[in-house]
Amino acid sequence: MSEAAFASKEEVSVSETTSENTVEQPQHSVIGEGKFSARDVHVFYGDNEAIKGVDLEVESHKVTALIGPSGCGKSTFLRCLNRMNDTIDGCRVTGDILLDGDNIYDPKVDVVQLRARVGMVFQKPNPFPKSIFENVVYGPKIHGLATRQDELEHVAEVSLKRAGLWDEVSDRLDTPGTSLSGGQQQRLCIARAIAVSPEVILMDEPCSALDPIATARIEELIDELREKFSIVIVTHSMQQAARVSQKTAFFHLGELVEKGETEQIFTNPREDRTRDYITGRFG
Ligand SMILES: Nc1ncnc2c1ncn2[C@@H]1O[C@H](COP(=O)(O)OP(=O)(O)OP(=O)(O)O)[C@@H](O)[C@H]1O
Ligand SMILES: [Mg+2]
Repeated sequence: MSEAAFASKEEVSVSETTSENTVEQPQHSVIGEGKFSARDVHVFYGDNEAIKGVDLEVESHKVTALIGPSGCGKSTFLRCLNRMNDTIDGCRVTGDILLDGDNIYDPKVDVVQLRARVGMVFQKPNPFPKSIFENVVYGPKIHGLATRQDELEHVAEVSLKRAGLWDEVSDRLDTPGTSLSGGQQQRLCIARAIAVSPEVILMDEPCSALDPIATARIEELIDELREKFSIVIVTHSMQQAARVSQKTAFFHLGELVEKGETEQIFTNPREDRTRDYITGRFG
C-alpha cells in the first residue's frame, strides 16, 4: 500500500505484524476481517527464547510485512503460522495461534491440511525435480482436489496464470521446473503454493535471490494475489515492505515492538527502536 514516502534505507532484517500496544484492546479490534490471531506466542529453541510473547492479528486480503534485524525472530514467527517449527528438533511453541478462530496447535489439527490452508514460499526457489506441470499439480493431487487429467490441466493453467508465468511456460509444461530462471522458478513455487487454493501464503524473503526485474514482477504478483489470499511476507528491504504491504510489524530481539498500518510505521513510528531501524541506524 503505502509506498512513496520512504526513500529511507536498504535494510537488514525481517519481522512481523499486527495490532498493538500499550492500551488493552479487545481481541478483534482491528478493522477488517481477521485471519490469524496470535496471542502471547513464545518460541523456544531448547533454552533460548526466540519469540517473547507476541500478539499479532493478520487480516484477510492484506499483505502483512514482518521486518526487523537479522536474528530477531521473523522466520521463527512466520513458521509458527503453519507449524513448520514442528519439524525442528527442540523447538517449542506456547500461546495461541487462531486461524479463523480455531487454534492451529490443537492436537486434533491435521498439520497436512493446515499447510494446505497456509502455504509457504521460501527464500530460495525450490521446485521439485519434476516437470513444470507436475510441480503445480503436486498439491492438488496429494490432497485429492483434482484427479482427472482435464481437471489437473485446468488447475495447472489457472495457477500458472495467477502466478504470472503461464505465457512463458505454456508451450513447455513437460520440461523440468529446475530449467527455469530464478525468477521464473519463484513464480513456479508461487503457482505450486496457490494450486491448492490456500487461504494464506507465507513468504520468507521471497525475492532475496532475485534480480530487480524478477523482484518487481513478484511484487506486482503479491499485490494481485492479495485479492484472493492473505499474505505474510518477511523482508529485509524497507522499500519492499513499503511497496507491497498494508500492515507492518517490526520485531526486535524476539519482541514485537510495533505493528500498524505500513504507512504509519514508515512515516510516523511510535517507538524509537522502530524509527532507528527504518532509518538505518541499526540492523
Ligand atoms: N533451528 C534453529 N535452532 C536453534 N535456534 C534457532 C533455529 N532457528 C533460529 N534460531 C534462533 O532463533 C533466533 C531467531 O532466528 P530467526 O531465524 O527467526 O531470525 P530472523 O529474524 O528470521 O533472522 P534473518 O533475518 O537473519 O533471517 C536466532 O537467535 C536464531 O539463532
Ligand atoms: Mg529469517
